Amino acid sequence: MPAREKLILALDVGEPGYALEIVERFGDWVTTFKVGLELFLSGGPDIVRRIQERGKKVFLDLKFHDIPNTVVKSSLAATRLGVSMFNLHASGGFEMMKRAKDAVVETCLRENLPRPKIVAVTVLTSISQEEFRKEMGFQHSLRTHVKHLSSLAHRAGLDGVVASGHEVSMIRNSFGKGFVIVTPGIRPSWSPPDDQMRAMTPKEAIRNGADYIVVGRAVLSQKDPEKAIELISLEVLSA
Ligand code: C5P
Repeated sequence: MPAREKLILALDVGEPGYALEIVERFGDWVTTFKVGLELFLSGGPDIVRRIQERGKKVFLDLKFHDIPNTVVKSSLAATRLGVSMFNLHASGGFEMMKRAKDAVVETCLRENLPRPKIVAVTVLTSISQEEFRKEMGFQHSLRTHVKHLSSLAHRAGLDGVVASGHEVSMIRNSFGKGFVIVTPGIRPSWSPPDDQMRAMTPKEAIRNGADYIVVGRAVLSQKDPEKAIELISLEVLSA
């Protein structure tokens, strides 16, 4: 897969016009752009359509976490919007994930729609092992939890998971090649970690087995974003 297929650029901005400028500016480097909460709340479904009209794919990162009925209906809305991938929280439970997946498959067949990939968020990359135990109150390790949630997502028939670079090889070894792993919390050696506690470089994450890496501030907060994306793409290539 070429580097631009593996690199997902997070459009973490609040201005739809600015988001489209970024899409135009980085279109040669990136095939898929991520629309998260901030941009979706300001641009709505229209911003997704406008990115797609420019020939780009959209990963809709709204991290659904609700009762099965609500997640099923939201998943169908995301599917009809034509996104190439969307996510939900694995901690929403097996039933929620399975029903969402089944409903999407059935609707795509019935309405002749392309089927988006559905991936489950395991444990956010901003959470440290210490916070996981002390504040969230879990007795087992964060790794064990990520493995357990990945296994639930796998059994529910989801396409894959969102997980930090630190858990990628464990997930790859447990669930095999076809299970998609999307890795955010990407930080080249020259960029600060910000709020990401389980960060990893692009090269290491890809070497560990990530299918896609999500990059936001390591490009958009740099003095020279073009140089940053070029360096990251080279890292992906060299992995
Ligand atoms: O700027 P940075 O590269 O840290 O941004 C990471 C992006 O990935 C953000 O848009 C964030 O919402 C998203 N994300 C994440 N951790 C997850 C899932 C998504 O950081 N587990």
